[in-house]
Amino acid sequence: MRVLVTGGAGFIGSHIVTELLSAGHEPVVLDALLPSAHPTAPAPSPVEFLHADVRDPRAVRSALDGVQAVCHQAAMVGLGKDFADAPDYVGCNDLGTAVLLAAMAQTGVRRLVLAGSMVVYGEGRYECPAHGPVRPGPRRAEDLAAGRFEPRCPVCGADLAPGLVREDAPVDPRNVYATTKLAQEHLAASWARSVEGTAVSLRYHNVYGPGMPRDTPYAGVASLFRSALARGEAPRVFEDGGQLRDFVHVRDVAAADVLALEAVADLPAGVLTPYNVGSGEPHTVGEMAAALARAHGGPEPLVTGEFRLGDVRHVTADSTRLRHDLGWLPEVGFAEGMEEFARAGQRASAAAV
Ligand SMILES: NC(=O)c1ccc[n+]([C@@H]2O[C@H](COP(=O)([O-])OP(=O)(O)OC[C@H]3O[C@@H](n4cnc5c(N)ncnc54)[C@H](O)[C@@H]3O)[C@@H](O)[C@H]2O)c1
Ligand SMILES: [Zn+2]
Repeated sequence: MRVLVTGGAGFIGSHIVTELLSAGHEPVVLDALLPSAHPTAPAPSPVEFLHADVRDPRAVRSALDGVQAVCHQAAMVGLGKDFADAPDYVGCNDLGTAVLLAAMAQTGVRRLVLAGSMVVYGEGRYECPAHGPVRPGPRRAEDLAAGRFEPRCPVCGADLAPGLVREDAPVDPRNVYATTKLAQEHLAASWARSVEGTAVSLRYHNVYGPGMPRDTPYAGVASLFRSALARGEAPRVFEDGGQLRDFVHVRDVAAADVLALEAVADLPAGVLTPYNVGSGEPHTVGEMAAALARAHGGPEPLVTGEFRLGDVRHVTADSTRLRHDLGWLPEVGFAEGMEEFARAGQRASAAAV
């Protein structure tokens, strides 16, 4: 199958290209090589490569030539520097997706696998002992500054127990990036409905592994810790380190993309089907920092109490649907994956050039 991988020069996209090749498919890459993601020139692409922006309709139409399915990874990622980044996020992620879908509508490509994200859920799933499942409100700066990191029941103020989030959980984006990732899903669902296309959103949880970019305002937490260790410094853990996440290895994510691309023709047309992509093994950010520091032989993590208002406290995945529908089984365990990541190379950052 000939597959267009947008963002195929990026961290996850390049692993998808490798996985597609080894499964006997024919990937084609379109990537704008954004300076925020690629401050230095990336390694030459092993496959047909189009250096273009997904917002460019002519480039996208020509990239779709002979393509049976699209794997849409291109996006600006992370929390960004500040709100002034909003137009760039909306441009790359939402205008870009709209241009891509319009070109697919025109050229008759009817299969889409989208890089979704767990950020669409906002805070994960919580249970109050008295009120059952509840949705905590936005976190307040005063609480966080006073070290009150755990969300409380919006009805009675009781402590809550975090649980695994399923695909039918209400969406609740809490920052600009999350808003753009949710809009991508809504656009893809509208496209599927109007052209009888088939769309899958793989809602990745925290992806880590070889090739992850070094620390930039756009990078994930595992990459920040790994970069600190590379400089001989202790990883700085925000809040109290108790934030629960699902760290999923990039090769397992790439395998999920290939499974979804192979299965998408048999999934219901006219709708978007979301799937969580998580390891099913929740760990705290503090545990992740400690595992990386140990494997790297570096200084113990430092828990700083700092916080970012756009962060959520806990979010962990229930990926049963992906296992059940597509037969996906993550293969890289937490300890093994973190050990490999502690030794593996990262992509260069602006600070390194
Ligand atoms: N890394 C994670 O933990 C994570 C978690 C959830 C979802 N995702 C999603 O996975 C996808 C891939 O993320 P990644 O971590 O590999 O990031 P990345 O920055 O390494 O890769 C993204 C790629 O997209 C390209 N790109 C961005 N805007 C573009 C545009 N307008 N036109 C063409 N190319 C463009 C960049 O140049 C880059 O090569 C993104 O859609 C992201 O939202 C990532
Ligand atoms: Zn309550």
